[in-house]
Amino acid sequence: MSDALLEARNLSVRFPVRARGWGKKAYLTAVDDVSFTVKKGQTLAIVGESGSGKTTAALAIARLVAGETTGEVLLDGRDIVPLTGEQLKDMRRRVQVIFQDPYSSLNPRARVEDIVREPLDNLTDKPEAEKRQIVDQLFEAVGLRPEQKRLFPHQFSGGQRQRIGIARALSTRPEVIICDEAVSALDVAVQAQILNLLRRLQKDFGLTYLFISHDLGVVQHMCDSVAVMYMGKVVEHADRMDLFNNPLHPYTTALLSAVPSVDPTLRENARRILIPGDPPDPFNLPKGCRFVSRCPVAQAGCHDAAPPLEDKGGPHRVACHLVGAEAQSPLGVDAAARA
Ligand SMILES: Nc1ncnc2c1ncn2[C@@H]1O[C@H](COP(=O)(O)OP(=O)(O)O)[C@@H](O)[C@H]1O
Ligand code: SF4
Ligand SMILES: [Mg+2]
Repeated sequence: MSDALLEARNLSVRFPVRARGWGKKAYLTAVDDVSFTVKKGQTLAIVGESGSGKTTAALAIARLVAGETTGEVLLDGRDIVPLTGEQLKDMRRRVQVIFQDPYSSLNPRARVEDIVREPLDNLTDKPEAEKRQIVDQLFEAVGLRPEQKRLFPHQFSGGQRQRIGIARALSTRPEVIICDEAVSALDVAVQAQILNLLRRLQKDFGLTYLFISHDLGVVQHMCDSVAVMYMGKVVEHADRMDLFNNPLHPYTTALLSAVPSVDPTLRENARRILIPGDPPDPFNLPKGCRFVSRCPVAQAGCHDAAPPLEDKGGPHRVACHLVGAEAQSPLGVDAAARA
């Protein structure tokens, strides 16, 4: 029995798209056979460039995705993919999402107290007085003043709006919070405040986070483990220290080299590894490794067969033909001792 609170098993999501050519039904597979686990009270970061399938995976886990989902999403050991009716409602109380853009995800015509209590109205039948009390507590918990309850979203700054989004996500006392680029739209100083708030709330409420970002720099102080996604696939999945100290997949190494280091010696030694070229067309993926068109160490065999995600010990899983059992980066030790 694992101690995972949240687990994706062979999760795939595909979108039916308008056919090209002769009217054949076409699909875009945005998430392709993805598996990961998040332990109770911990944070798993999912990182990858735009278009790698992070949001689609998040929405599938929250049962909010428009595409066709296969595989399993286990919450406390129970698959939530087939749930309907009251059971689905119960799951929605337990798993909440904070989106990137507080500007567009808050109804501009609603008072923020009503925005925060909306999930309580939709998903619970708590008495009015209790709902009011919960909203008051949440305003305090996220650092907003009581008199701000009657204001409208446009009367708040970006960081404050994200605090409102966080209060709303917390209103049903969820166990799992999915943060999808939750701080990406904010400037660096405000980002740090919101990350601190999220960390404090995690401790106070015993929350389990799925923390999604295109930026490894943002997740490095925020997570216990990391899953790196590329073109719908998890290419590397490891504990935070393993991933940052010994990145094995060439894509992870390239992402890491773009993270500015706070340590001046490391910064001096930094060798920025640029990722050349464009990602492949999602409708016409290569049959071998999906990273082959951009990989600086690709070999002939990489074109022929897709590398499976394999455990190299730790547990540190990676999908690359050139990573052997000794778990060394194919880019060499220098490149792995990163920027
Ligand atoms: N509703 C949709 N219909 C069709 N394609 C979609 C839809 N949502 C996302 N996609 C496609 O799925 C892929 C992954 O997108 P997304 O999950 O948003 O990635 P990320 O969040 O990592 O930027 C992209 O190619 C995107 O165009
Ligand atoms: S399998 Fe080959 S192309 Fe893919 S990341 Fe590894 S070395 Fe590069
Ligand atoms: Mg996204």
